[in-house]
This record gives sequence, structure tokens and C-alpha cells, in this order.
Amino acid sequence: MNLALYIHWPFCLSKCPYCDFNSHVRDRIDQAGFARALLAELAWEAARLGTRRLTSIFFGGGTPSLMAPETVASLIEAARRHFAPADDIEITLEANPTSVEFARFALLREAGVNRLSLGVQALDDASLAALGRRHSAAEAVAALEVARSVFPRLSFDLIYARPEQTIAAWRAELRTALALAADHLSLYQLTIEPGTGFEALHRSGALVLPDEETAAALYDATGQEAGRVGLHGYEISNYAVPGGEGRHNLAYWQYADYAGIGPGAHGRVSVGGELLATRRHRAPEIWAERVARDGHGITHEEAVPVLERAREALIMGLRLAVGVDAAYFAARTGVALDEAVDAEILAASVEAGYVRRTATHLMATESGRRRLDALLPRLVK
Ligand SMILES: C[S@@+](CC[C@H](N)C(=O)[O-])C[C@H]1O[C@@H](n2cnc3c(N)ncnc32)[C@H](O)[C@@H]1O
Ligand code: SF4
Repeated sequence: MNLALYIHWPFCLSKCPYCDFNSHVRDRIDQAGFARALLAELAWEAARLGTRRLTSIFFGGGTPSLMAPETVASLIEAARRHFAPADDIEITLEANPTSVEFARFALLREAGVNRLSLGVQALDDASLAALGRRHSAAEAVAALEVARSVFPRLSFDLIYARPEQTIAAWRAELRTALALAADHLSLYQLTIEPGTGFEALHRSGALVLPDEETAAALYDATGQEAGRVGLHGYEISNYAVPGGEGRHNLAYWQYADYAGIGPGAHGRVSVGGELLATRRHRAPEIWAERVARDGHGITHEEAVPVLERAREALIMGLRLAVGVDAAYFAARTGVALDEAVDAEILAASVEAGYVRRTATHLMATESGRRRLDALLPRLVK
């Protein structure tokens, strides 16, 4: 069975006020200690998973471009040794566009990274400052240029639906971004996450998001602009040229097996006929202690019951433009696709033009994907 591997690096130079990822700021990081712990946890996970075909590795964060390139190299080397790497294995690393980091791109490429995902977030300095970023737009563009010359594949992230952003301003910014794009872009609507600095500002009224109508218009404009240059929206927030889709994230949305190592990482792995949901300790230092003690930092692990598998597979799969393949769904979850959805809501959603059911697939239409958060709790049993 195919496997995707996620490796979490939990440190950043500073905490961005919108972000609730498991990221931490430290004066000093024990690079060698964390490298050892990640390697140990990888070996532990590999021992129980066996020699799977490894289709992707994803270094996410936090800011994995702050990892020592030797650590990245040794993790890739170990993963290749433990598993059976596909010939076209995709190895992605998330990077921030500060100069410290882009000086390392060539070393990361040498380590085996073949796809970079750069957190650009915005292309004007005022917005970058408002987002609490430590880089300028010019630095981001310079990082993109270096990355394009170093990596065979490149994606970058932008955040839109920012306070006071107009549709015209976003179209202009996006056109600039699209001119710099390679095979992939992730375009996220700003969300207010619990416990973040933005949440406090939002609650006090100091940060106002675009209203629903404007947000929907921004989403539509995003798809139109990306489509004009041949990037298709294959997932709610992800746009690629045909063949440029991120294979690692596709594994999540297709509900395939993925192992997650490092602090706070999640996994869904088939072991002994069961699908296990795994979660690691979020605090980096405690996670590392657990790995030293037990060989892994797992705090929660349970078999996903059949109906829950069906729910998860639908929630993930309907994010994709191609939707959910009924035959694959039944084989993966043990539930027939039509039994996992509420028949009445399905009929009404088809009627309203939000969902389509073909002979082989169930998919959300473009307007359905725009309102997926509202639709899913009613549609999925
Ligand atoms: C783990 S971060 C990326 C890696 C890197 N540390 C960086 O910031 O460039 C993943 C991406 O999620 C997006 N993101 C994080 N919080 C978000 C939020 N509240 N709303 C929208 N997008 C968000 C950002 O675009 C970010 O690049
Ligand atoms: S957005 Fe990236 S750099 Fe900012 S805190 Fe989150 S993970 Fe760290």
C-alpha cells in the first residue's frame, strides 16, 4: 500500500498573528537533538508499517527551511532506506522567504528536496506588515526567483480576503503573483483561528474581515484569474497546471495512508487490517523526551470506526474538484458512498446545483465548494 510521509518542524523565527499551526519560537534550538528524535521516530514508525511504496515526503511546519540541511538530507536518506521510494517521489519543503532561508535553497535541493512551497502571503509591504511577516514583497519575489532556478517544482502561498481588501486590488495582486508562478499555487482565504492574535483583534472589532458576499466574489475572482493562465482549482484553495497538483496533499484529500512524525503530527495508517488515527505530543521538548523514552511521541492512537472513515473520506474528498470515486470510497471505508450521505439533503443539493452525482463520482460543484463548510455537516451522515 502506498504511503505519504509528513515530517513536522515546529519552530519559527516569530509567531504570525493569524497562525494556529503547531509552531514555537525559541532562543536556541537543539538541532542535533531534534534531528535524532525525528530519525528515531521515523525508524519506529517504519518498523511497524513495513516496506510501503513511498510516494511523497512533506516537510511542514513551523518553518522547515530553518532546519539544518544535513538534517533534511539524513531524514530523506532514512525514509528512502526504510521504505520503497517511488521513482517519481515528491519531496516538498515549506520555506519562508527571508534571505537567511533562501541562501540555503541549493543545499536543500542537494539534500533531495524536489519541490518548494514558499509562504509569500502577500505582495505588498503594508499587507505583509499587517500579517506580521518578517519579509518584504521584494524579498519574496527574490526568493521566488532563486527557488525557480533551484527546484524542479515550486508552489507558493498567498492569503486573501484580508481586512479592507477590494476585489480589484486582489485581482491586481494575483495577476502579479500568477506571472511569478510555476506549476502550483495555494491561495487561502484568511480565517480567524482560536487563540491567535488576530482572534483577539477580531473580537474587539479592530480587525474586520470582508463580508460573506465580498468573500465569495474574491473566491470567484481567484478561480477566474488562475484559470486565465492555465492553473485549475483542483481543490478549494489549491491551483495547478495539469500534472502539477501537490501529490502529498492529494493523499490527504483522497484519504490515502499517511504517516506523520514530529511534534503534533497527525497520521492515518493501515496497520493489521485497521486504519489507525495517530496524534503526537504537540510540545516539542516533551515530544522529544517521549521519543527518547518510548521510541515515539504518540499521545493518541485509535482505530477509526467504519462510519467515521466514511465521514472523514467524504469531508476530505469533496474538497477536490474531481470529488469522491465511489468504487475507491467503498473499498477504502467499507461503506457504500450513497449510504454515507443523507439522501434527502443530497437530492436537494443536486437540485440547488451544489453537488453532482455521476455514475462513478460524487462531487461538489464550484458553487458547492464555496459553501462546503455549511453543506458538509448536513450532507454527511
Ligand atoms: C505552516 S504555514 C507555511 C509555512 C511557513 N512557515 C510560512 O509561514 O511561510 C502554511 C500556510 O498556511 C496558511 N495559513 C496559516 N494560517 C492561516 C490563516 N489563519 N488563514 C489563512 N491561511 C493561513 C499560510 O498561507 C501559510 O503559508
Ligand atoms: S505562518 Fe508560518 S512562519 Fe508564521 S507562525 Fe505560522 S508556521 Fe510560523
